[in-house]
Amino acid sequence: MLLRVGARDYNQAFFESVYPVPGGMIDIHCHILPAIDDGSPDLDTSLAMAAMAAADGIEIIIATPHVGMTGRAAWSRICEEVKRLNNALQEERIELRVLAGAEVQSHVAVTKAGQFCLASGSFFLLEFPSTHLPVDSLEIVHTAVRQRITPIIAHPERNAAIIQEPGKLLPLINAGAKIQITAASLTGDLGPDVAACAGFLVRNSMVHFLGTDSHSPGFREPILSKAVKKASRYMGRKKALALVRDNPLAILPRNLPRN
Ligand SMILES: [Fe+2]
Repeated sequence: MLLRVGARDYNQAFFESVYPVPGGMIDIHCHILPAIDDGSPDLDTSLAMAAMAAADGIEIIIATPHVGMTGRAAWSRICEEVKRLNNALQEERIELRVLAGAEVQSHVAVTKAGQFCLASGSFFLLEFPSTHLPVDSLEIVHTAVRQRITPIIAHPERNAAIIQEPGKLLPLINAGAKIQITAASLTGDLGPDVAACAGFLVRNSMVHFLGTDSHSPGFREPILSKAVKKASRYMGRKKALALVRDNPLAILPRNLPRN
């Protein structure tokens, strides 16, 4: 399922002008910022993650530290850390750019989610508990959409209730939510139940983004290509690439910060 966003063509041109290598991938979910949540513990680890991602063909990572129980960074701190990491990447000549984002846990008031949109656009990464779908999940989506921000539900294929009944996602998608699954889920690295659910969602066009949700080089590696290959088998190469390129491009705002 391709996203239809008016800014897409503009962003494509902008992207190509800044990043001359065409076809690079964009990871919209990664805990690459150092010492801000349970992801990368230090700058060296962040640089190692970046080098792995760049070698895989990833050109942009949206850094998505947890906001909620497992992280409480303010947006200003996230932006500062992104700037610092981009400077370090330039010094190390690693061809990768990091943008600011967050992974907002669902108990955080949705009225605050607008402060944490990916790349300061109008889409935010929404994390439900892994054990169940909260009773107010549909209301959260409705409230966000009323505020003109779009929730991207992070890795529902790892949620026990969705594994049992993937159709529970449909009302949320119909209400306007988008879906991001984890690359390692699709490749089978997170177990057969999660892989089966991820495969089901991809085959039924219920997925809009593939993200690594990487926390370190060894904890869900920052690699997308293997999952794209797997998704290609289910939906063809063009649609699989849209999950890591066209759709992420479509959610980047026109005035993408150049820091
Ligand atoms: Fe995450």
